Amino acid sequence: MSKIEKFSKQVLLKAAEIIKNGGLVAFPTETVYGLGASALNARAVVRIFEVKNRPSFDPLIVHIQKREDLFRLCKAIDRRVELLIERFWPGPLTLVLFKTEIIPEVVCAGLESVAIRMPANKIALKLIEESGVPIAAPSANPFGYLSPTTAEHVREQIGDKIDFIIDGGKTEIGIESTVLDLTGEPTILRPGALPVEEIEKIIGPVKISSQVEKIKSPGQFWKHYAPKVPLKIIKNGNADFTRNKKIGLLAFKPWSDVSQFERVEVLSRNGDLAEAACNFFEALHRLEKAGLDLIYAEPVPEQGLGRAIMDRLRKAEGVKNG
Ligand code: TXA
Ligand code: MG
Repeated sequence: MSKIEKFSKQVLLKAAEIIKNGGLVAFPTETVYGLGASALNARAVVRIFEVKNRPSFDPLIVHIQKREDLFRLCKAIDRRVELLIERFWPGPLTLVLFKTEIIPEVVCAGLESVAIRMPANKIALKLIEESGVPIAAPSANPFGYLSPTTAEHVREQIGDKIDFIIDGGKTEIGIESTVLDLTGEPTILRPGALPVEEIEKIIGPVKISSQVEKIKSPGQFWKHYAPKVPLKIIKNGNADFTRNKKIGLLAFKPWSDVSQFERVEVLSRNGDLAEAACNFFEALHRLEKAGLDLIYAEPVPEQGLGRAIMDRLRKAEGVKNG
């Protein structure tokens, strides 16, 4: 069997065997591809950090397959948690809660909390079930780079360093989960696929952590999710499209005149934010490979999924705001 295989029952059993034996398997979730290891095996988890070149102070998300697992891995679970998981799990909501002793320190970078989610993806859920352990998995990309939304992205970026990749096609949502800290006042640490507005309908107002505050979740680093080519967000509808440079455009909606661009990627034909999120990383991967000097990105409306897209764009640009 080769290192990258399309999903089948047999492929899944092989992948689960690798996880059980302390290996690393990349697998699809509904958001992006994850790089998984047994969350209960500290040595396997250390390998995730090595492969990603991820700083050891940046904790991982633990993926579970059934709600009961939450009660084994976390404590001080209150009504807010119950309401949220009832409504949104399985799905793209990661909760940061106080952890129990079961989880090795390395998973949580020594914090007393752990990030947990139940992915809404059949392959991911079956992999966790067959492995018989919770699976620690960050996005399957080198630290700071674009997240993978296809198995091919994973193969290109880290394929030679991991044990196996399950190819489950393109991920449905295309942008990472929303990270909500519930160890105190509810605070969004990373805007993501589940809009803040939806969370507020269930538990009332939540704070959105600003990057000016102390970095609590390292996903808040300014430069993150970055393509290898410099990216600039277009301000007030215009930009200085310098001639004699190869410039690409990441457009939210179709533009009437794109003659000045070497390559154009349109996120959504009719300005649909969910469609834009789904195409976002894939479009950036393609622009990155197009031999450009610079990428201009059109801002999207900052509501619902648009908040998550703008968060990724600002981090790709690497400026200190928002
Ligand atoms: O959609 C997703 O969330 C994907 C898929 C694979 O599940 N995973 C993902 O993981 O995006 P990663 O490692 O790329 O991002 C996890 C984020 C990071 O910003 C990390 O700092 C934060 O969650 N995080 C994890 N544990 C935390 C904790 N105990 N306290 C605060 N932030 C935490
Ligand atoms: Mg990531």
